[in-house]
Amino acid sequence: MTKLGVNIDHVATVREARGGANPDPVEAAMDCIGAGCDSIVCHLREDRRHIKDDDVWRLREAVKTVLNLEMSIAKDIVEIACKVRPEQTTLVPEKRRELTTEGGLDVVKYFGKIARVIEKFNEKKIETSLFIDPSRVQIDASKKAGASIIELHTGEYADARTNSARLKELDKIKRSAEYAISIGLEVNAGHGLNYANVRDVAMIKGINELNIGHSIVARAIIVGMRQAVEEMIGLIK
Ligand code: PXP
Repeated sequence: MTKLGVNIDHVATVREARGGANPDPVEAAMDCIGAGCDSIVCHLREDRRHIKDDDVWRLREAVKTVLNLEMSIAKDIVEIACKVRPEQTTLVPEKRRELTTEGGLDVVKYFGKIARVIEKFNEKKIETSLFIDPSRVQIDASKKAGASIIELHTGEYADARTNSARLKELDKIKRSAEYAISIGLEVNAGHGLNYANVRDVAMIKGINELNIGHSIVARAIIVGMRQAVEEMIGLIK
């Protein structure tokens, strides 16, 4: 079965709305693992807008399955990853003002830098995945840079406005996955996947893991609301 990695960044986004301790992304991660997910993903952004350094350390302590640290290739973040030693890192492009990761990493353009980061992580026995657009050029560059895993960006598929555009993007993901597997890469996929669009991607042969964040956190708020309100009414009574 295709594995599921849950990205818990937006639990921290809700916490940051008040700057306190709740909801705790580590507690949420434990529930995700309890529900059967295969890995926990968090993105330590350079601006620390949701996940903080302390969260990463606490997740490292608590997650006994796979911790996948999503990150840019900025020097200080790479150093933190070397100290925390997650099982896996996923390298992504990062812009300060974006709402979320926009597009895949340009492995062709930043080839040297990326190859050096992968080498550094290899020395620390940390596996590296590169988050890239479903394109042959980027897949070939990822392989050449020494990555063992790629994550295909499914954002264009998720955002497609017409069915024909959606099918075209799905086909791109399928063909990219097939090609990447044929040259020996492990293939994951993610971004923008939700309860309505995940099925077609999950059916693509050979994809190892889907990484999903926002839609799961959003759904958790909705399906948990009744219990949260009932508990509060109980206390008030
Ligand atoms: N994979 C990568 C590399 C990402 O950057 C993100 C967003 O942080 C995700 C998966 C999850 O995307 P979403 O929150 O849209 O499910």
